[in-house]
Amino acid sequence: MSYPTKKDKLKKLQELNKQAEQGGGAKRIESQHAKGKLTARERISLLLDDGSFEELGKFVTHRSTAFGLDKQIFLGDGVVTGYGKIEGRLVYVFSQDFTVFGGSLSEAYAEKIVRIMDLAMKNGAPVIGLNDSGGARIQEGVVSLAGYADIFYRNTRASGVIPQISAIMGPCAGGAVYSPAITDFTLMVENTSYMFVTGPNVVKTVTQEDVTAEELGGASTHSTKSGVTHFACANEVEAINYIKKLLSYIPQNCEEEAPALPYKPGDELRPVLNDIVPDNPNQPYDMREVIEGIVDSESFFEVHKNFAESIVVGFARLAGRSIGIVANQPQAFAGVLGNNSSKKGARFVRFCDSFNIPLLVLEDVPGFLPGTDQEWNGIIVNGAKLLYAFSEATVPRITVITRKAYGGAYDVMNSKHIGADMNYAWPTAEVAVMGAKGAAEIIFKKEIAMADNPEAKLKEKVDEYSERFANPYSAAERGYVDEVILPQDTRKKLITAFDMLENKVDTLPKKKHGNIPL
Ligand code: HXC
Repeated sequence: MSYPTKKDKLKKLQELNKQAEQGGGAKRIESQHAKGKLTARERISLLLDDGSFEELGKFVTHRSTAFGLDKQIFLGDGVVTGYGKIEGRLVYVFSQDFTVFGGSLSEAYAEKIVRIMDLAMKNGAPVIGLNDSGGARIQEGVVSLAGYADIFYRNTRASGVIPQISAIMGPCAGGAVYSPAITDFTLMVENTSYMFVTGPNVVKTVTQEDVTAEELGGASTHSTKSGVTHFACANEVEAINYIKKLLSYIPQNCEEEAPALPYKPGDELRPVLNDIVPDNPNQPYDMREVIEGIVDSESFFEVHKNFAESIVVGFARLAGRSIGIVANQPQAFAGVLGNNSSKKGARFVRFCDSFNIPLLVLEDVPGFLPGTDQEWNGIIVNGAKLLYAFSEATVPRITVITRKAYGGAYDVMNSKHIGADMNYAWPTAEVAVMGAKGAAEIIFKKEIAMADNPEAKLKEKVDEYSERFANPYSAAERGYVDEVILPQDTRKKLITAFDMLENKVDTLPKKKHGNIPL
């Protein structure tokens, strides 16, 4: 055998590259496409700026010899990893390749993911995981479990330091779900992805329930019932576009600010806002219209849209700057705070605070949702999560009370007492312990009962209470509300106030970390 020439060596490299790029082979790629799924590499090329992907660990292979694995070697070992750019900004990415052992995670595969997570942490840039995997590589046993734990550990260490985004584009089951769960945002693709700790077969054995994979852990289930996923996407292309959009509102790491877009002042007055809150205080309206009326045109990007709909959260731009919005939604359960809406709000507030994104709160909340279901499922601790999240947030925070700010919910929804920087109210605001009717029935109970005409007496007392409290002025008298403003001026006021708060510095007392009521 002759010593290989330089030409031979170049040829070998070309062959190896080609082999690596074929993943599990043409047949398996075909089968992936037949399921309506893209391959790991196709996903990366859609995600990243053209020509920007730099692959790492392309020739890594597994080391197992068990169960005939030594005869099945695939370069790259089922995960494509590397870095590249999205809109010119650095990101690290791993993309699981279902065509190789069902995308299952081996020791070497985990090491590849760990490598890019470590690089991302050292260099302060987001990690994006494109998940499509049968879970732990069964033939490898405990080293595969160890690999998962190495990833979970890094997910946790990286939390709040660099943004982490997980897109689920195929199976994600067993303990594997915990990596996406620790990351900041999870996206799922409808009909081709699912997430569960135990699949339908185990469910049937243990609980006798008949349930399909889609019902148990598909995108629609997790975007509406469990809240595990923040976005249910119609297809993979939409999921990838959502990732890009999401990143446009977020800084590269916790030391940076989110990128701002150029802004030309001009359309600050928004008369459309004057007509949104109805005359009847019990009539619903869509808080999204208020949001759209305030923020830069078409900039609102809603997160967790179909989950716990009585609160709306999402990113937007105000005069080009990225802000996070938390808003009660009178259109869903009158905007009441419940277990899920409190958790949803709290998680979003903490994300924004971690990454220096100022918070705008739009408040119209009649209180916390009563009932055994709520109490037994922990509305006390869940409501406390939202209270805690706002209280510890050090980013600029502004509240606008559009209508009701009742009871404990007034305190919780970013009141000045828990550290909000500014609090505005519209003339329609009602800052009170509770609604006028409920209040009158309690405090004038005897008087009403003893009246010749209890109904008329109740009305008189409701009017009396409304006159005193169903307005923003008693809060404004104390300075709890900084200014009562016309709805049409809201955008201008907010731009000016966020400008004023641009260099806000606030720090928490020295501590290891707080103990949020989980
Ligand atoms: C090794 C696996 C695998 C796995 C799939 N494959 N999962 N190989 N380890 N975990 C292989 C299959 O043998 C097959 O190889 C190829 O991937 C494609 O799988 P199919 O079954 O043909 O595909 P499909 O019908 O689409 O079904 C996909 C699937 C199913 C639903 C993911 O493969 C499946 O149920 N796999 C096992 C899932 C599982 O129980 N994983 C362990 C979970 S426990 P060939 O050569 O035939 O193409 C876990 C613990 C993590 O993950 C703990 C962390 C703390």
